[in-house]
Amino acid sequence: MNTPQFRGLDNNKLNKLYGLNTPCYVIDEARLIANLEVLKRVEDESGCKILLAQKAFSNYDMYPVISEYLAGTEASGLYEARLGATRMPGKEVHVFCGAYKNNEFEELLQYADHIVFNSPAQLKKFGPEAKKTGKSIGLRINPEFSTQEDHEIYDPCSEKSRLGTTYYEWQKDMDEESIAMLDGLHFHTLCEQNSDDLAKTLDAFLVDFGQYLPKMKWLNMGGGHHITRDDYDIDLLKQCIARVKEQYDIEVYLEPGEAIALNAGYLITSVLDVVNKKNINIGILDMSAACHTPDVIEMPYRPPLMNSADEGEKKYTYLLGGPSCLSGDVIGSYSFDEPLIEGSMLVFGDMAIYSMCKNNTFNGMPLPSIYLLDKDGEISLIKSFGYNDFEYRLGS
Ligand SMILES: Cc1ncc(COP(=O)(O)O)c(C=O)c1O
Repeated sequence: MNTPQFRGLDNNKLNKLYGLNTPCYVIDEARLIANLEVLKRVEDESGCKILLAQKAFSNYDMYPVISEYLAGTEASGLYEARLGATRMPGKEVHVFCGAYKNNEFEELLQYADHIVFNSPAQLKKFGPEAKKTGKSIGLRINPEFSTQEDHEIYDPCSEKSRLGTTYYEWQKDMDEESIAMLDGLHFHTLCEQNSDDLAKTLDAFLVDFGQYLPKMKWLNMGGGHHITRDDYDIDLLKQCIARVKEQYDIEVYLEPGEAIALNAGYLITSVLDVVNKKNINIGILDMSAACHTPDVIEMPYRPPLMNSADEGEKKYTYLLGGPSCLSGDVIGSYSFDEPLIEGSMLVFGDMAIYSMCKNNTFNGMPLPSIYLLDKDGEISLIKSFGYNDFEYRLGS
């Protein structure tokens, strides 16, 4: 598995991190703003609108900054819609959920402006009520065009995907009345991908669904666009957007999560113990992959780690893992110039996304504090957590 390059933190910034209580996340505002500037340029030059997919990053202390650059937020259900509406007031709130619940839908109408359904049945069930309250209604399409390999759990076009309406289902279940309810179509098929995959997906989508776009007001091309990565082809993205806008004269939305806070955060952890088992040096950290970086296990991926190299490349190699009971609570093997000792500080990179918003307290692991390294290089505590945050979810 490749290790992405560690990005961020010159010596000045790094010095600010010594002495913080670990484990903790640090959000790097300057890097967040640099990403937002790239995204704003895409909006200005292409005329598209970009939303923050809150599932990836929802530290709402940063929403005032984000709202200066983006059109609004994207939510996965009632709670994220409420967060977007209340913490980024005045901006658009879009929601897509695999299935909405009777007892939540009315409240959702208070928060969301755009509501995207997963199936014709959900559209028929909830669409009329949403339409009556002036909402913009969409249907998620599954273009059945997979551009991902070995990533089934992140591939909405995988064989057994439940996400999005296929052309077969559309023909079977959509009648004129349902089509007339729609203001837009939505597809989300990518994960950490470049615009060449978007261009191919758009081709596939248009073959079956292009015929319906003249009736629509917007097309939402989902997330998974790694727009702020160095090698991302922004010109091709702009061509895709221009193609839709020119051919169909409709609004184009993108709702990336990763691209917004890519490489804009760190997870600082300390070595608690170093053990040697069957000739393997193991560093036990005060962070847990299972609790604090679950994507490392689920996806899986290798997070970048400052001043380290892959196994065996530097003199001292350690397998790094958490203190939990789970034998698979392992981050990976990394090598260092100096031996790790109790108290050594390690800095994982690219830790703003799919980290804080996925945290859990399995094994009673404490939640890491969240700090802000602001654009002037000053560090301040946003939030710390304690025993109560663990206990309150478990009983009365
Ligand atoms: C519907 C939808 N939109 C947007 C996103 C954001 O994707 P990413 O963070 O990869 O850009 C996701 C991620 O799963 C998604 O499911």
